[in-house]
Amino acid sequence: SFLCQGCTENCSTLPVQVFVIAYISHYIAEEVLGFTSAFFCQCRKNILQFLDAERDVSVVKSNFKPGDVIHYVLDRRRTLNISQDLHSLLPEVSPMKNRRFKTCAVVGNSGILLKSGCGKEIDSHDFIIRCNLAPVVEFAADVGTKSDFITMNPSVVQRAFGGFRNESDREKFVRRLSMLNDSVLWIPAFMVKGGEKHVEWVNALILKNKLKVRTVRIKRPSTGLLMYTLATRFCDEIHLYGFWPFPKDLHGKPVKYHYYDDLKYRYFSNASPHRMPLEFKTLYVLHSRGALKLTTGKCI
Ligand code: CTP
Repeated sequence: SFLCQGCTENCSTLPVQVFVIAYISHYIAEEVLGFTSAFFCQCRKNILQFLDAERDVSVVKSNFKPGDVIHYVLDRRRTLNISQDLHSLLPEVSPMKNRRFKTCAVVGNSGILLKSGCGKEIDSHDFIIRCNLAPVVEFAADVGTKSDFITMNPSVVQRAFGGFRNESDREKFVRRLSMLNDSVLWIPAFMVKGGEKHVEWVNALILKNKLKVRTVRIKRPSTGLLMYTLATRFCDEIHLYGFWPFPKDLHGKPVKYHYYDDLKYRYFSNASPHRMPLEFKTLYVLHSRGALKLTTGKCI
């Protein structure tokens, strides 16, 4: 399973890319062949062949003890030792165990959300998934404020919180986490080597400030696509907002990569690990077939 639990020696690792490509090509093939029955239940069934998100969403405490060695998903030769802090923050059981929702929102971070007025609609869903600790308060009218599950790539520490270089960076981070209350914080910590220091700092801050977040660790493709995939396990209806990996909207107006910062377009760069336009195409196919609802304009 590609979200397998941190990849201990006996864990079968289907690389993420293989899964995504299989998944995408499956739907593109269906589209080309004119096969029309790929609705939501079928999607869920297909995804279940690869992973059971309820079980695989997280490493749990009983899988490891401090000092155990984990292999990174995309570079199995490299390893990480489970620290005491990391172990103490792992959940006892899957944080998604027995959880089911009628409607879910998966919120991507595209600038397409600006001036959308979608905040209220997003917050009205039963379960709200957000990506990479994106700020919400200043953008509440367009993106809402609630979240039940929020992801954080280790690189966010550098990108949005100054690498925790000074006290005010750390305070800003702690403030953001405090707002999450009982939300699940999901960190793809075992994907590639390089982010482990950041993950350890985050762990230490959570423990020191006794923050009420539940932590989950796994690996990835684009966070947004992964979140949609996870949602198929728990949600009867999935609504996507903030997915628009293109520099212009349908009227030719520029669209920021992120609604909240000035990061330049990453999706066409070779450095990007993702193929978001291809992912978008797939999501659009699923939208057209009623398996999800993609909102890329204004909410009424
Ligand atoms: N997204 C999108 N269009 C954009 C920006 C983001 O469709 N212009 C979606 C992608 O699915 C992305 C998710 O929103 O994974 C969250 O955005 P972001 O935090 O910017 O993700 P990245 O850091 O760019 O990439 P990732 O976390 O997937 O590595």
